[in-house]
Amino acid sequence: MTNTSRVKLVFESDGRTLELPVMQGTLGPAVVDVRSLVQHGLLTYDPGFMATASCTSCITYIDGDAGLLYYRGYPIEQLAQHSSFMEVAYLLLEGELPDAAQKLAFEQSVRQNAMLHDQINTVFRGFQRNAHPMAVMVAVTGALSAFYHESTNVFDAENRRLAALQLLGKIPTIAAMSYKYNVGDPFVYPQNRLHYVENFLHMMFSTPSGPYEVNPVLARALDKILILHADHEQNASTSTVRLTGSSGANPFACIAAGMASLWGPLHGGANEAVLKMLAEIGDVSRIPEFINRAKDKSNAFRLMGFGHRVYKNMDPRAAVMRQTCHEVLNELDLNDDPMFKIALELERIALQDEYFIAKKLYPNVDFYSGIVFRAMGIPESMFTAIFALARTAGWVAQWHEMLSDGGHRIGRPRQQYVGPTRRDYVPDRNH
Ligand code: ACO
Repeated sequence: MTNTSRVKLVFESDGRTLELPVMQGTLGPAVVDVRSLVQHGLLTYDPGFMATASCTSCITYIDGDAGLLYYRGYPIEQLAQHSSFMEVAYLLLEGELPDAAQKLAFEQSVRQNAMLHDQINTVFRGFQRNAHPMAVMVAVTGALSAFYHESTNVFDAENRRLAALQLLGKIPTIAAMSYKYNVGDPFVYPQNRLHYVENFLHMMFSTPSGPYEVNPVLARALDKILILHADHEQNASTSTVRLTGSSGANPFACIAAGMASLWGPLHGGANEAVLKMLAEIGDVSRIPEFINRAKDKSNAFRLMGFGHRVYKNMDPRAAVMRQTCHEVLNELDLNDDPMFKIALELERIALQDEYFIAKKLYPNVDFYSGIVFRAMGIPESMFTAIFALARTAGWVAQWHEMLSDGGHRIGRPRQQYVGPTRRDYVPDRNH
């Protein structure tokens, strides 16, 4: 960050002034460096971190007004079209795209880390069969910290790389096992001969009783979905991973914390809500009724899959997702899928509607992803689990970046206290 200018704070009460440096990154808004305020007995107040940069980062850049998303400078559309999730995971972690040898070595290392310690099976068996896969994933990922604790020195860069490879390798296995456990099927072990996404589909859908062939079109579609979800700068789950990791906590525990945050319906759960809404709409003829409900201030209903805290333009991931949806439905001969038809028409009508135009409400990444997952045979309960699998790439990269920073400090937000002032305990108050 370069120090470009200063802002001056003037206290109306006594005319005192304070100057604060303004720092400029390579892209995006300038930030006011408020660190010196504490020396003057002042704190900043920003619940929800709407105007707070919690860190510097070289990984992901979003321009919500322009609808841009870059990983390490590369536009998401280009990565989705030409790259693969493994290449993107390497890019996020290491900062540059790998050459052929680096890519091969990275993929092999991830594959070799796909097996779980056999004792983990007993952790799964402690859950009821109908437990939500995300509850199981959070617990099992956290439990891995018991298996890889002494060996993980988080302040050593090579150890962090190893932990990243372990996490990238093991999370798909945990996700697929959570699903298998949920439906009562036997666990399917990872296959080193398969690529990352093929391996995940194999662990999800193959059974010991028959052959399973991975459909390459579906594998490529899932690979794209993983690329689109791999990172999104300092969102709630990523900030959770950073804050948890800032104390030097075990990486498996940090990623489990990120998963717990992601599971919240305001974060990772919107694509399930989109499917429910499309099912409720039921027919294109009912779209105007739902548009009117979304615009009615006395009605709490919102168009699910529309709007975003950061994007005030088309979410660049949504356009790729719409195209992917076409490809998947075409491959599966589902072009007449009624939900997809309703989604396309809903998007068309909403994008022409004054209310949605004025409020800059565009489809977000979740608008089409549920339809794609559903067509691929992935149950709704696994949507967030797959999001977690993809976001593991971003989480480990952000965690590694934070701990690589020489000036790294434990995360410790402050507060404005608004509770009771000092008062005395009365020992015999109940007598
Ligand atoms: N349908 C109808 N109106 C909406 C919608 C929507 N989907 N989203 C926002 N608005 C309206 C609000 O009513 C509000 O109107 P007002 O100014 O008249 O009060 C205005 O647009 C701004 O809305 P906020 O809630 O203040 O915007 P915020 O940035 O806080 O919220 C959010 C963003 C939560 C995503 C919101 O747009 C929403 O609820 N969308 C539907 C749920 C959804 O799709 N979530 C997935 C997000 S993507 C992700 O997490 C990967």
